[in-house]
Amino acid sequence: MSDLFQKPLFKYVIILFFIVLGSGAVLVPFIDNYLALGIVLTIEYIILLVILSYFSRVFLKPVEKAIDTMEEIQKGNYEVRLHNNPDTMVGTLNTKINGLASNLNQLATKKNLRLEQLNTLINNTESSLILIDERGYIQLINQKFMMMFGGKVEDFQDQLYYDVLENDACIKAVQKAFVSEKNIKESFTHYIGIIKYYYEISGIPIFNQQNNLKGAVLVIRDITELKKLESMRKDFVANVSHELRTPITSMKGFAETLLDGGMSSEETTREFLRIIYNESHRMQLLIEDLLTLSKLENENFRLVLNTVNVKDITKDIIPTLMYHAEAKKLKLHVDMEDNVVFKADKERVKQIFINLLDNAINYTPENGHIYLKVEKQKEYVHINVTDTGIGIDKEKIPRIFERFYRVDKARSRNTGGTGLGLAIIKHIVEVHEGKIEIESEVNKGTSMHVYLPL
Ligand SMILES: Nc1ncnc2c1ncn2[C@@H]1O[C@H](COP(=O)(O)OP(=O)(O)O)[C@@H](O)[C@H]1O
Ligand SMILES: [Mg+2]
Repeated sequence: MSDLFQKPLFKYVIILFFIVLGSGAVLVPFIDNYLALGIVLTIEYIILLVILSYFSRVFLKPVEKAIDTMEEIQKGNYEVRLHNNPDTMVGTLNTKINGLASNLNQLATKKNLRLEQLNTLINNTESSLILIDERGYIQLINQKFMMMFGGKVEDFQDQLYYDVLENDACIKAVQKAFVSEKNIKESFTHYIGIIKYYYEISGIPIFNQQNNLKGAVLVIRDITELKKLESMRKDFVANVSHELRTPITSMKGFAETLLDGGMSSEETTREFLRIIYNESHRMQLLIEDLLTLSKLENENFRLVLNTVNVKDITKDIIPTLMYHAEAKKLKLHVDMEDNVVFKADKERVKQIFINLLDNAINYTPENGHIYLKVEKQKEYVHINVTDTGIGIDKEKIPRIFERFYRVDKARSRNTGGTGLGLAIIKHIVEVHEGKIEIESEVNKGTSMHVYLPL
């Protein structure tokens, strides 16, 4: 009922009723026919109601509708529209309201699009991002953060950063950014399970136009790969120094002995000079291998691809290797398909043959056999070197392509190995987009398969 009273139309019906009643009261002293008065008043009321209904249809209803529509717009529903008759005043009002709704709709669509773009950007960056307001509450946090540290958005959103961030480095970074009002950058380690990750954290204070601190952004970047590369580089430099120091120490020692009067006997002199020669030769091999590796790793490295016949590649090297094999009483069996022609960098592929056969010769004891087989397969040239040598422990196989890794250090050195042969092969195979497979059994032998695309 009270709702009914709210309706303007009902209000006017009541008001009109009292107006008619009032006009009746004014007329009572002048009229003695009450029936006639009643009829006149009823007719008056009906006429007034008809007029009211007209005004209501033309003005009140449309205004009411306009108010309802405005309410909808206020709630955020910008899709609502009003029928409009531009000839009337209300019609003009409706046109304006429609225009307003449509503008708001456009703005909202644009805003939503921006928001979506921003969200996509924030959630797809490689770094964790957190936005903290000046009171210390987390206003925004991206998915990457959950991936790094676990948890759900709800655990962090609108919470005080020092209550919910578990990592000390994160909390300190925010504090430092707030206190110093300067960008800060630090690194820390974090374990996910047993895996150690290296993270770099940046705390960036945010200021408004009046230069007042308004909060801080925290960016956390995974630098584990970078650290790994750095440590690999350090290891490499240490390894190279170590590899060079051994022959240099030996050469220096023998040269000193010779200078200190060791030249008395011609036999010792020759023996020492031979050692110095061998050591310098070993150094030369090492430096050549290092140069080859560094060339292969150079970003600007380009393969010189030519159509080559495998026979052309092997014909220069087989005689020398045959000679080395025979010196160790090894039998080298060669089985090569005719006309294996493919596109490759001839000198690099030659290196693959040399390094594979070198290893087979070096790691096979006397009276063993070495088999070289080259055949054309569907999409590849298959190069296979099999020996009846010492073999490689299964667990060590994944490591033999690392630089300077040797299963047996002393043996490798004695055979003149640099520890870089397989690392070089791996690089050459990779740049040719080929693959390597190894089968090996300790004391039985090793079989190396290299596949190069035709
Ligand atoms: N045919 C093989 N038989 C047994 N062990 C091998 C063979 N080829 C390579 N290896 C092992 O892999 C290591 C790495 O080989 P490589 O990179 O050629 O260096 P190296 O200069 O020592 O020969 C060798 O030291 C050796 O322990
Ligand atoms: Mg080798």
